Amino acid sequence: MSKTILCIGAGYVGGPTMAMIARKCPGYRVHVVDIDADRIRAWQSDQLPIYEPGLHEVVKSCLNRNLFFSTDIARGIEEADIIFVSVNTPTKTFGQGAGMAADLQYWEKTARQIKQHSRSDKIVVEKSTLPVRTAEAMERILHSGERTVHFEVLSNPEFLAEGTAIKDLENPDRVLIGGHSTDSGRRAVAELVSIYAHWISRERILTTNVWSSELSKLAANAFLAQRISSINSLSALCERTEADVTEVARAIGMDSRIGPKFLNASVGFGGSCFKKDILNLVYLCRHYGLTEVADYWEQVVRMNEYQEDRFVRQMIASMFNTVAGKRIAVFGFAFKADTGDTRESPAIRVCRSLIEERASLVVTDPEALDNARRDLADCAGKVTFDKDPYRAAEGAHAIAVMTDWSEYKKLDFQKIYDSMSKPAFLFDGRNCLDHQRLFQTGFNVYPIGRKPLSHL
Ligand code: UDX
Ligand code: UDX
Repeated sequence: MSKTILCIGAGYVGGPTMAMIARKCPGYRVHVVDIDADRIRAWQSDQLPIYEPGLHEVVKSCLNRNLFFSTDIARGIEEADIIFVSVNTPTKTFGQGAGMAADLQYWEKTARQIKQHSRSDKIVVEKSTLPVRTAEAMERILHSGERTVHFEVLSNPEFLAEGTAIKDLENPDRVLIGGHSTDSGRRAVAELVSIYAHWISRERILTTNVWSSELSKLAANAFLAQRISSINSLSALCERTEADVTEVARAIGMDSRIGPKFLNASVGFGGSCFKKDILNLVYLCRHYGLTEVADYWEQVVRMNEYQEDRFVRQMIASMFNTVAGKRIAVFGFAFKADTGDTRESPAIRVCRSLIEERASLVVTDPEALDNARRDLADCAGKVTFDKDPYRAAEGAHAIAVMTDWSEYKKLDFQKIYDSMSKPAFLFDGRNCLDHQRLFQTGFNVYPIGRKPLSHL
């Protein structure tokens, strides 16, 4: 074994990324540590802590060969040559910058742990998404006090999307590595490049300075989310003018300068990153006195909230201005298909608003019900959970599609319609079903950004 890689944080990013490195680089020993013992046990079992297509095979192929999971952070640090830090950096919920800035307490704690347990030189790689210039703070902590060990800090943000993590890791659009232009910085960059070069062509491995790399991660997420907010803003206009947002998206997406991806109008974007990273960007801009820039990006998040609220308003208005006492089946709780993750899922805000309107909810989802139960734990008595969509829809006045699970397209909607209260409503927050067919079955169908199909 030539070198040992450590990753601190066995979450959505750290776990799959390290599994892929272990699989592609059999000459490296890859050790993943976490403070959460349950999570570590799950990584060692057949029930992985996260659901990701293809992940299980990758982990299985190298577990206990050159991929190891443990809670022994101190030993991990001591033995490592390269340390990836992938602890979570959520939005701060307290004090200065609450609701906006990144909470860097875990990050800083980890930096101090690395300093305390290091006996030899290390390359420290920022994998978590961080405010620009965090590497500077990290270097200060690592090099404070007595300087016996040299730490070279690199930025290597992760662009994988959930649900396609393995595909994205196997074949990324690019790998970004930011480092200092000193001799030791260049050497560290070359070392990290050589790891990824085991399976990724050299042209796709981009090297920049540290600050560009840190900012590019925030910028990429902000641009992606901005496209969704842009098309969602137009979906509201489409609903008023009988333009069809899918046709508009297609028409503009065929312009090669715009491109077709990330133009699906929806009830809103979710996920652990978009909102958090944009607010982080907004906070940074305000910190540097760039008020107009901050306001510009903040609007992307506001538009998303508007879209979620608009969806609920549409539901209430079309169901004769009241949902009180009505059973509503929520199809999907995950923030997108092929994941059990519900962080910032639009379903949360939509469900809470419907509960406030005294609707009685039944949530169904193939992978996310455990998380959904946690997210709505304070709503006991007002919401139930059922893995079976047919049962969930029984007796319901309406279905609200929140996640574009492919299994929903294959459901027998005639059977579902027959079991529902009439008139039966279907609100497709993902435009993922065959609306004409549903209409013919008898449903009153409300898509996003398209004329409703109503029998009423
Ligand atoms: C990652 C990045 O770290 C985050 O900055 C980025 O924006 C999204 O992706 P993610 O992997 O999704 O976060 O977070 P999570 O699944 O919560 O995993 C973080 C792990 O770090 C958890 O398992 C947590 O237990 C662990 N952790 C946290 C530590 O091991 N030590 C700590 O001090 C704090
Ligand atoms: C995102 C980035 O894509 C990824 O590069 C980064 O590393 C982490 O954040 P992720 O949050 O996993 O990944 O999911 P993504 O596929 O980007 O979707 C985010 C949200 O946008 C989902 O709720 C999705 O349903 C929604 N979305 C996406 C739309 O509403 N319309 C679209 O056209 C695309």
